[in-house]
Amino acid sequence: FHVDWDVAAAEKGGYDYFMDKEIDEQPQAVADTLLGRISAEGRLQLDEMRMSESELRSVDKVIVIAAGTSYHAGMIAKYAIEHWTRIPVEVELASEFRYRDPILTRDTLVLVISQSGETADTLMALRHAKDQHARVLAICNSNGATIPREADAVVYTHGGPEIAVASTKAFLTQLIACYLVGLYLAQVRAAKFPDEIADILEQLSQAPAKVRETLDRMGPVRELGRLLKDEGRVLFLGRHVGYPVALEGALKLKELAYVHAEGFAAGELKHGPIALVDQGLPVVVVVPPADRPLLHDKIVSNIQEIRARGARTIVIAEDGDTAVAPFADTLIYVPELPTLLQPLVATVPLQVFASALADAKGLDVDQPRNLAKSVTVE
Ligand code: G6P
Repeated sequence: FHVDWDVAAAEKGGYDYFMDKEIDEQPQAVADTLLGRISAEGRLQLDEMRMSESELRSVDKVIVIAAGTSYHAGMIAKYAIEHWTRIPVEVELASEFRYRDPILTRDTLVLVISQSGETADTLMALRHAKDQHARVLAICNSNGATIPREADAVVYTHGGPEIAVASTKAFLTQLIACYLVGLYLAQVRAAKFPDEIADILEQLSQAPAKVRETLDRMGPVRELGRLLKDEGRVLFLGRHVGYPVALEGALKLKELAYVHAEGFAAGELKHGPIALVDQGLPVVVVVPPADRPLLHDKIVSNIQEIRARGARTIVIAEDGDTAVAPFADTLIYVPELPTLLQPLVATVPLQVFASALADAKGLDVDQPRNLAKSVTVE
């Protein structure tokens, strides 16, 4: 009697790839990252920020620093933190920040985001910020790694170990951590929108279920990945927080499937990218929820513009959005969430699409060529 068994297969728990397993673990990862951080009275508890309320009130600028997928989480954090707190937020690639002369003071809060906590550029950027007396808060998934050890404080994401090189559940949990930090700053500083904050906290607590629901609908997305396996180019468009989601979708496809994929802010279409659109080019468009009608209508016109030029439109929109249907060759509905939280669901189809397309090409989804999970050298 012989049983075929190997450690790697056992660890993948029935999935072909760690990435697919980690995509599926996202509802739990999100729930774990929220756990214990919102009180029964609907207030945030983030003692781990280790800053007194008066210090938090004196913060006059936030600089978010990260690399790769973590940088995309940082871009989304900017929209959320500025909206909720009215504190100016800058977002910068660690590899750029570390060689600049940034303007920092003791009242600057530097938010360093790193899944591994070991990315060399991000660590050097952290040291650069500390040298200038800024206060550094890390968002990290790896307990006791170098970045959280050197930061003044750390908010851990509780995503659990991420094995696949391409980041998925770490990204969603980084978003949760960024939202929590933004909302906490708003709470302490009694910002302009207290009702909105209570509402957002309520919506956040529903995020794990909404991510689950999104995952349950991914059959057609996998099918689409297989169908488009011979495409050499794919564009991704978004506006507002949908823009970093588009960048993340393009990054996933580059990393896993070696497809020339680019993400653009939809408003930039006319400034260049539309020249790339020709017959049959797949263009993925992330449509903002109807709670932002202006944004929504702008992107519907963008979809019409690219479709008129022959693009094959793959549209990600919230449930009930019928306005986009006539212009979508493929329409992927995600559950409703307020605009600022929509990346939690809108990113999921892009992860699944990249994984399915790479698998259909016969590539190693977990270990793409030339890439490392953690870039600890320069
Ligand atoms: C590498 C990984 C990416 C990750 C990036 C930043 O490029 O392949 O998945 O997003 O590093 O890593 P960090 O651990 O700092 O978040």
